[in-house]
Amino acid sequence: MRKPIIVANWKMNFLRDQADLFLQKLLARLGHNQTVEVGIAAQDLFLPDLIKIADDSPISIVAQNAHWENFGAFTGETSPKALANIGVDYVMLGHFERRELFNETNSTVNLKVRTALNDGLDVIVDVEEMEQVEPVLEGITEEQMKGIIIGFEPTFAIGTGMSASTKGAQDVAQQIRKTVRRLYGAPTAQAIRILYGGSVDRDNLADLIAQPDIDGSLVGRASLDFQTFWELVKIMQ
Ligand code: G3P
Repeated sequence: MRKPIIVANWKMNFLRDQADLFLQKLLARLGHNQTVEVGIAAQDLFLPDLIKIADDSPISIVAQNAHWENFGAFTGETSPKALANIGVDYVMLGHFERRELFNETNSTVNLKVRTALNDGLDVIVDVEEMEQVEPVLEGITEEQMKGIIIGFEPTFAIGTGMSASTKGAQDVAQQIRKTVRRLYGAPTAQAIRILYGGSVDRDNLADLIAQPDIDGSLVGRASLDFQTFWELVKIMQ
């Protein structure tokens, strides 16, 4: 049984107080006994506050990126070991915007995935098409796959208001699961969570998560308004 997960990807939005207040409100509504996992992916500066606020709660705190090395002369980068050290739960790697705007490739994403897993971080690794799945997982062991969630975000759907069709999203999620089965066997394929992202909103979420191979969602714009995001969480419950 795969636990559904919804992740708010705030991208580079909010100021510190807004981020803190959002999470406090979310915690107050969520309570403790959750059937759905809720993740908040925030910019690095906000993470220490959010970790404190989410302490001992069912909310997972997610970094939006990290480097492939832990220490060294990499001015301006964030160390995955430092993220793990402050208590971050997941790091999101390979998001379309990282690939498109910051020239990340399957091979840099793969290096990052390997380092993050070695540091004890769980990873949400994003792909825009299923052909990217195999290269970003290269060298990852069956045991390490327990720390991986795969996010599928088709480029045309990100931030456009034009979600993939339910069937289209399910087809790709099914292909991704088949690829994982071929690479790691049936138990890993059965256990891994696959998320859909791209213009998720109140109108399409219920149908998307009803699909057999879609275990949750990555939400961009619709996660910036508290009430809207809360309604999405309720749809997932
Ligand atoms: O990671 C989620 C994001 O890329 C999707 O953004 O605004 O289309 O929900 P949005």
